Amino acid sequence: MRKPFIAGNWKLNNTREATRALLEALKPLVADVKNVDIAVAPSFTLLETAAEVLKGSNIHLSSQNIAYATQGAYTGEVSPEQVLDVGCSHVIIGHSERRQYFGESNETVAKRVRTALDAGLVPIMCIGESLADRESGKTFDVVLGQLIEGLVHVKDEEAETMVIAYEPVWAIGTGKTATPAQAQEVHAKIRAKLAERFGQSKADAIRIQYGGSVKAANAKELLGQKDIDGALVGGDSLKADAFAAIIKAAV
Ligand code: PGA
Repeated sequence: MRKPFIAGNWKLNNTREATRALLEALKPLVADVKNVDIAVAPSFTLLETAAEVLKGSNIHLSSQNIAYATQGAYTGEVSPEQVLDVGCSHVIIGHSERRQYFGESNETVAKRVRTALDAGLVPIMCIGESLADRESGKTFDVVLGQLIEGLVHVKDEEAETMVIAYEPVWAIGTGKTATPAQAQEVHAKIRAKLAERFGQSKADAIRIQYGGSVKAANAKELLGQKDIDGALVGGDSLKADAFAAIIKAAV
């Protein structure tokens, strides 16, 4: 019922030349994939190049962030309209690295989600607990708190546009993946909370990605869980073969 969605978060990597090479390699590997949504999220300066290469393909383009303002005196920011203008349809919001290193808060996440929706971009809103949160038994409080606060400006009729990415911080880039059971447990709680907020039928339509050291070797089992509807992939989205293998695991 929910179409799987695999997105690659390139983070701070690649040049225009490397972008061309990676996407030219990826395109034919996934050209015949029909029942999975696919997106890549390169740095802002690479978006235009990526859009050129991806034109006419089945791979969507995402930015890794956007401003919560639409224009004006916000030095260093990039607006929703500007990323739309270069061909983005999606935007990652509130990644844990933004929260950890750049002062992103639930409040600014909520504002970015709002401007993304206003512009017609699909927000991929990231939430996840740290190792200390998990070890002190606060996983659900933290994750569900981030969820509800991030969605505070979302209207009921917009709910199904949202994509939620559950990424336990301790699993990102560490090679430590949540077990399928650990991930499913949190995903089920997220969906139950979405049902409280938007009603069950809308909650059943919202895609919840898992992120944190997703690899070809563990993707199938993770994606086989009832409430895991896709993946947000970091490291392995930088390799065409590995990323294609994860996408194929979702088919
Ligand atoms: P990773 O990153 O796959 O390298 O763990 C995931 C992410 O941060 O989105």
